[in-house]
Amino acid sequence: MKLFMLFLPWSFALLASSFASASVVERTFKVQNLTIKRLCNERVIVAVNGKFPGPNINVREGDTVIVHLLNEGPYDITIHWHGVFQLFSAWADGPEYVTQCTISPGNKYTYKFNVTQQEGTLWWHAHASVLRATVHGAFIIHPRSGLFPFPKPYKQSGVYTADFPDNPPVMFDFTNPNISFNTNLLFAPKSTKAKKLKFNSTVEVVFQNTAFIAVQNHPIHIHGFSFHVLAQGFGNFNSTTDSTKFNLVNPQLRNTIAVPVGGWAVIRFQANNPGVWFVHCHVEDHVPWGLDMAFEVDNGPTSSTSLPQPPYDLPIC
Ligand SMILES: *[C@@H]1O[C@H](CO)[C@@H](O)[C@H](O)[C@H]1NC(C)=O
Ligand SMILES: *[C@@H]1O[C@H](CO)[C@@H](O)[C@H](O)[C@H]1NC(C)=O
Ligand SMILES: *[C@@H]1O[C@H](CO)[C@@H](O)[C@H](O)[C@H]1NC(C)=O
Ligand SMILES: *[C@@H]1O[C@H](CO)[C@@H](O)[C@H](O)[C@H]1NC(C)=O
Ligand SMILES: *[C@@H]1O[C@H](CO)[C@@H](O)[C@H](O)[C@H]1NC(C)=O
Repeated sequence: MKLFMLFLPWSFALLASSFASASVVERTFKVQNLTIKRLCNERVIVAVNGKFPGPNINVREGDTVIVHLLNEGPYDITIHWHGVFQLFSAWADGPEYVTQCTISPGNKYTYKFNVTQQEGTLWWHAHASVLRATVHGAFIIHPRSGLFPFPKPYKQSGVYTADFPDNPPVMFDFTNPNISFNTNLLFAPKSTKAKKLKFNSTVEVVFQNTAFIAVQNHPIHIHGFSFHVLAQGFGNFNSTTDSTKFNLVNPQLRNTIAVPVGGWAVIRFQANNPGVWFVHCHVEDHVPWGLDMAFEVDNGPTSSTSLPQPPYDLPIC
């Protein structure tokens, strides 16, 4: 049996082609009411070109962007190109009553700007009232050369190593409220490490909550498996004393477990599903903060216990 411990800090971490000339990317954004159905209810939102979220804009560094905004919706609106420098084109930035007045219903405005000296994925969103909740989309700036802006680019897929540690690299008093003042503990290094599991091995995980900053219950979700919950408790998990509390008779079978504030939870599952499976806190905004990792489960010995080849239309990065 593989035994290891994951720890849950509320901290930053765990976590060529030829030169192409600039071109003009021209789009029309029609802002309109859109009726959507969610949870069996219909409601009217404001959206661009009948899409929610709105259309993506793909450009290359150096391009000129022209977006004709036609306001056919019921509210005053503007659009902000979030993160675009707007060098010598402040009139296209968008914040209402700062660089422009709003475009009122029935009116139009053409946003025109050059995208220079920047690359990466940004977004565009409404910058009037709270319309950004539904009026938004991605704004993707590709390098003009087609080359990655890194000295040594990451590979596309397979960007991880299989050396996620079995135990926290540092042991400390996890649930002591004073740990938030220890900056050596507060920031863990970022990494892309996954934990490799042998096919059909029995895996036990101790989820240990910590007292870092905003103390919270963390609902940890594991993709690919349901697991048995052997025990939950408060304080720091002690394998000698707490393993006597394991329910090995009729443990709950779940796919998500709440790791209590100031406490821990122990789970077990059988790694009988080959693939890479995401493990993460289900409080969505904890994921980009690093409360996530992945298991890589090996193939079994036969074709029926191995992951088939990916489908031809699997999107690649
Ligand atoms: C759009 O929706 C708003 C809010 O539901 C409504 O007041 C308005 O009349 C609608 N406008 C059009 C043109 O459908
Ligand atoms: C944007 O780029 C075009 C084409 O290179 C150029 O004519 C124009 O002056 C640029 N506009 C600004 C505001 O820099
Ligand atoms: C936290 O630190 C304070 C001040 O040093 C100390 O008095 C207190 O006992 C500490 N609390 C714990 C739980 O260690
Ligand atoms: C996985 O292990 C269990 C025993 O723990 C065994 O019953 C089962 O046959 C194994 N499955 C495969 C596909 O090897
Ligand atoms: C676990 O509990 C035992 C028995 O109380 C104790 O002797 C031991 O020091 C504890 N271990 C840790 C790591 O606190």
